[in-house]
Amino acid sequence: MMKIKQCLLISFCLFSAAHLKGQDKAAGAYKEQYRPQVHFSPAKKWMNDPNGMVFYKGVYHLFFQYYPNATIWGPMHWGHAESADMIHWKQMPIALYPDSIGYIFSGSAVVDEHNTSGFGKNGKIPLVAIFCQHDPVGEKAGKDNFQTQSIAYSLDEGQTWTKYPGNPVLKNPGIKDFRDPKVMWYAPGNKWVMTLATKDRITFYSSPNLKDWTKESEFGADKGGHGGVWECPDLFPLQLDGKTHWVLLVSNNPGGPNGGSGTQYFIGDFDGKKFTTASTDTKWIDYGPDDYAGVTWANTGNRKVFLGWMSNWTYATQVPTEKWRNAMTVPRELALKQIDGSIFLTSAPVKELAQITLKPLNVAAKGNVNTPAYSSLPAQYILKFKVHNINDYSIALSNEAGEKLIIGYDKSKNRYYIDRTKPGKTDFNTQFAGTFFARRISSGPSSDIELIVDASSVELFADRGLSVMTGVFFPNKPYDHLQFQNDKGVIIKDVEILPLKSIW
Ligand code: FRU
Repeated sequence: MMKIKQCLLISFCLFSAAHLKGQDKAAGAYKEQYRPQVHFSPAKKWMNDPNGMVFYKGVYHLFFQYYPNATIWGPMHWGHAESADMIHWKQMPIALYPDSIGYIFSGSAVVDEHNTSGFGKNGKIPLVAIFCQHDPVGEKAGKDNFQTQSIAYSLDEGQTWTKYPGNPVLKNPGIKDFRDPKVMWYAPGNKWVMTLATKDRITFYSSPNLKDWTKESEFGADKGGHGGVWECPDLFPLQLDGKTHWVLLVSNNPGGPNGGSGTQYFIGDFDGKKFTTASTDTKWIDYGPDDYAGVTWANTGNRKVFLGWMSNWTYATQVPTEKWRNAMTVPRELALKQIDGSIFLTSAPVKELAQITLKPLNVAAKGNVNTPAYSSLPAQYILKFKVHNINDYSIALSNEAGEKLIIGYDKSKNRYYIDRTKPGKTDFNTQFAGTFFARRISSGPSSDIELIVDASSVELFADRGLSVMTGVFFPNKPYDHLQFQNDKGVIIKDVEILPLKSIW
């Protein structure tokens, strides 16, 4: 009897610990080769775009394109994860399953505070998800109206969802690529606004109740990058020097700045019906190869936090991870900055990262202070330094097998780069190895650099997030060595290496 009791007690303890940690604590979980330690990735199987990101009652919800049966793309579900700080995640049961209308493609979620939808009951505020449904049968049959928009609501703070019986709420007018609704409350017009990707442009719709939608306008057929289809848009206001500017994010695949997937942005005005911009050049939120389909959290007030999918459709289904495929970027706080009369978006890792940031390593430089080298690096860390007298320099992350990733700046072309020509495994796709470039937007002689290095990714935030690049890599052994290269008189100062605690 005693034995049985003890057993019960022990298993109860194990259960509650696992529950608190919120993870599938199977032996080795989240410890596999290449498993990101400071980025969200699903415990297992396939993940692409972040979806339905909404902050409600102290919880950041992250839904995501999820295929629970394989590590490649398939009939899409909405996976779900929750966090109190956007850093530590707890994966939750699947939120939305495919149905007779179709797969559950990308979309957004809102807090329907005034119960405009009528889904609220007994004073409970509904969360409403708005998503694209993709009908594979219609697609196969060669129809052009197989993508429509549907809604679902939750009265238990995102735990369970009920699909609206009147779905789809927005039918397809005959446009094959008609998807990824991002909805926001537009207070001056007392209405909801949907920003929808419609092939080669954005179409705006409005609604009083999330169920009945009216087309307002189109934007972009003749603007920005058009190397591929437009997907996953987002529209939100940001302030700069007391003035409101509207930011429109549009993901493009292919057609990214370095080939494959990429996310461009436009800065302009929105009057509740129409988006306009005077800007003529194409700007990208991240110039690296691996940040796609990113959007911002809803219901975070004036703070706008962006999260992207850290991959590229060119090779996302082939990267050499076994149990799961793909991760998200670190959450990034967006702001605006004016440079030479033009307004740019800046991205900065969220301040919540401080919770997992450990004491800086003692990094007294070995040898020349301007070509420092460090070995035995932690598995994940932030590297920060300042550059004066800016000219060519680079930083190589490498391992004993000579596999490396080089991040640098080329003055003659005024651009940052990530050289991923010999990073380790590359044979899974011919496009994976290569060098990727980002224009340096800031023009001063000094620059601040911040790199977030994880088991299989690096995120570069240069000049306080004006030029951003994200890249994944798969070395045969972890990169535990770091070496600066600098023979053009650049002054490297204030090098800091801050180890990061695993979030799992
Ligand atoms: C972007 C995307 C979306 C679509 C989803 C399908 O990566 O193609 O446009 O809704 O993925 O999984």
